[in-house]
Amino acid sequence: MIKNLHLLITAGGTREYIDPVRFISNASNGKMGFALADAAAKAGHKVTLITTIKNSKFKSVYVETAEQMFAAVRKYFPKCDCLIMAAAVADYTPAKKSKLKIKKSDKNLTFRLKPTADILKWAGKNKKKNQIVAGFALEDKNLRKNAEEKLKDKKLDMIIANTPSTIGAEKAAVQIKQKNKNWVTLQNADKSLIAKKIVAFIK
Ligand code: CTP
Repeated sequence: MIKNLHLLITAGGTREYIDPVRFISNASNGKMGFALADAAAKAGHKVTLITTIKNSKFKSVYVETAEQMFAAVRKYFPKCDCLIMAAAVADYTPAKKSKLKIKKSDKNLTFRLKPTADILKWAGKNKKKNQIVAGFALEDKNLRKNAEEKLKDKKLDMIIANTPSTIGAEKAAVQIKQKNKNWVTLQNADKSLIAKKIVAFIK
């Protein structure tokens, strides 16, 4: 196995603020990203972790929003050999963030959301010849078909497909496709074991 690569790994769900104290997020607990960081370090790689969830185990770059995560990836991506986007990045963010805490009233409240930048797609488009870009695909149905479309559309080297039940869970069952290779199934197992196998694919 090749050692001493520099892996850039993202973990956790982003927080998209409505006002100073409230945000839209998702059920990600960062487990897969942390497990990947751990497995990569154990395999002898250098790891830079960009995360929305604090942990003491890894030297990390902390971010909250999709916009901040994008800025951090843009900063660290040029120096890495491989990016693994394990973070659950929000696809939408409030079009306007209230500067003050929103007061309650008895009327309905409507929020307008605007799309965020697709960080993975940016990385696929801007990667250099020797850089590897890997992403995840969370699919309710047509798992392989939809994931393969993401692999092509985002110009990825590898896609790890799983179902929404994996988010926030201890274990994962995933299907992996590398560009120009066949699908590989990894049976339901602890995320640490799945992560170890994913890292072994990085060459
Ligand atoms: N991702 C990203 N930037 C976003 C949204 C997602 O980099 N704004 C990354 C995720 O980290 C993941 C991959 O894109 O590695 C796929 O995320 P997923 O939610 O499965 O797909 P989307 O591209 O968001 O499309 P959809 O939600 O419509 O399935």
